[in-house]
Amino acid sequence: MGTIYAVGVGPGDPELLTRKAERILRHVDVVLAPVSNPTEASVALGTIREFIDESRQEIIVHQFPMTSDRARLIPAWQEAAALIAGHAEAGRSVAFITIGDPLFYSTFIYLLRLLREQWPQLPIEIIPGISSINAAASVAALPLVEADEKMVVIPATAGIEQIKAALSTYETVVLLKVKPLFAAIIELLRTTGREQRTVFVERVGSSRQKVLTNFNEIAAHSPDYLSLMIIK
Ligand SMILES: C[S@@+](CC[C@H](N)C(=O)[O-])C[C@H]1O[C@@H](n2cnc3c(N)ncnc32)[C@H](O)[C@@H]1O
Repeated sequence: MGTIYAVGVGPGDPELLTRKAERILRHVDVVLAPVSNPTEASVALGTIREFIDESRQEIIVHQFPMTSDRARLIPAWQEAAALIAGHAEAGRSVAFITIGDPLFYSTFIYLLRLLREQWPQLPIEIIPGISSINAAASVAALPLVEADEKMVVIPATAGIEQIKAALSTYETVVLLKVKPLFAAIIELLRTTGREQRTVFVERVGSSRQKVLTNFNEIAAHSPDYLSLMIIK
């Protein structure tokens, strides 16, 4: 039986991979990389490609629909879980790679549940990765929390009311998935006087990394999916 590894590859910089992740990626038989848009390259795969030897390791790019519609997501998760389990049952080790950390807003969480339920005999090992939040705080040299402070992480898709409530409760608010609600978030930050306390980070760890602290520049920017905001 092969081992299934969930490998966190960090935010996009190959140097931000752990040594353990690199060791496992160099020796597994199969690497499964998720993509949401078939026309776009897998960020996770781009991060680790230099560690893979395609003459002896197989790379599978698996598409997951970019939707919150569970009726479309569940079959894709099931298909990926069966694919991984099939390789592991045949004695091949498999690494499912994920940007950031595998247990932090990652597709792997759903796969883990299915694998545990349907293939409980298969060994699974999870290798943590540097999450986008830690990488973003580092490039901005922005302390996330200190002493008794509290921090909350909100996928902005949760809605503007949740973000508003969080801003009045926590010393640090981190917003993920900011793209769909960007205009409303900007408006909220303006009306609550957070202009000087907001940092925007896009594609941290990649050659397209952008770190914005000037609120007018943030407001004028059109963010892509891989962007977040840290609000103090
Ligand atoms: C589904 S979550 C994945 C989080 C990931 N597992 C992690 O540990 O960072 C996707 C969101 O994470 C944030 N994110 C992931 N990678 C990023 C990066 N390189 N730069 C900025 N934000 C990123 C964005 O807010 C994006 O919408």
